[in-house]
Amino acid sequence: MILSPSILAADFGILGEQIKILEKAGADWLHIDVMDGNFVPNITFAMPVIKSIRKYTDMFFDVHLMIDRPERYINDIIDSGADGVTIHIESTEIPDECIRMIKARGKKAAVTLKPATPVEAVIPYIEKSDMTLVMTVEPGMGGQKYMYDMNEKVRRLREIAPEGYNIEVDGGVTLDNLAEITAAGANVIVAGTCVFKGDIEKNVKEMMRICGR
Ligand code: DX5
Ligand code: ZN
Repeated sequence: MILSPSILAADFGILGEQIKILEKAGADWLHIDVMDGNFVPNITFAMPVIKSIRKYTDMFFDVHLMIDRPERYINDIIDSGADGVTIHIESTEIPDECIRMIKARGKKAAVTLKPATPVEAVIPYIEKSDMTLVMTVEPGMGGQKYMYDMNEKVRRLREIAPEGYNIEVDGGVTLDNLAEITAAGANVIVAGTCVFKGDIEKNVKEMMRICGR
């Protein structure tokens, strides 16, 4: 299991310090949500923030692009410090080209889908990508409830995917549903509220413990 805390739930005034706490507690990746106010109703941050936090850590930067036509920004996002880039299948007419651009820079490429998009939409990209992210809430906001019917997508992908392929879930993960989610076949876990609410170090350690790490 790989834990990828989502900094969307962090205190941006002390973001660098909180990243240090995550790293010390043993979190593996950092999940970085880029939203454009078009593909999703919310706006977050992009290159300048990613570049700033790159100085604080060597953790793997797992950048989730919730933007229209991500092909316009993939290179800038990678220049700012992304290690992996995830694009929404609904956000572009050229997913193959997006994956090619990410791989051409030597980075990990992932595709994702909104809850209403059938899993068939991402199946053709399994062999070309390094990971599929199954959205388990409507993208755009932290703190929502986990959509349990998405576990069926996770199971289906795990059945088809080759050995070692990463399947990530994002949205609504808690200490109570984590075991069930990993049992369905997800091995990369994004968590925002569950990590940042209260004691960050304790939360990370508890999540790791539940996953037998
Ligand atoms: C939602 C984002 C998530 C979000 C998860 O659009 O993609 O990464 O931060 O937050 P929680 O874990 O609070 O549901
Ligand atoms: Zn995300």
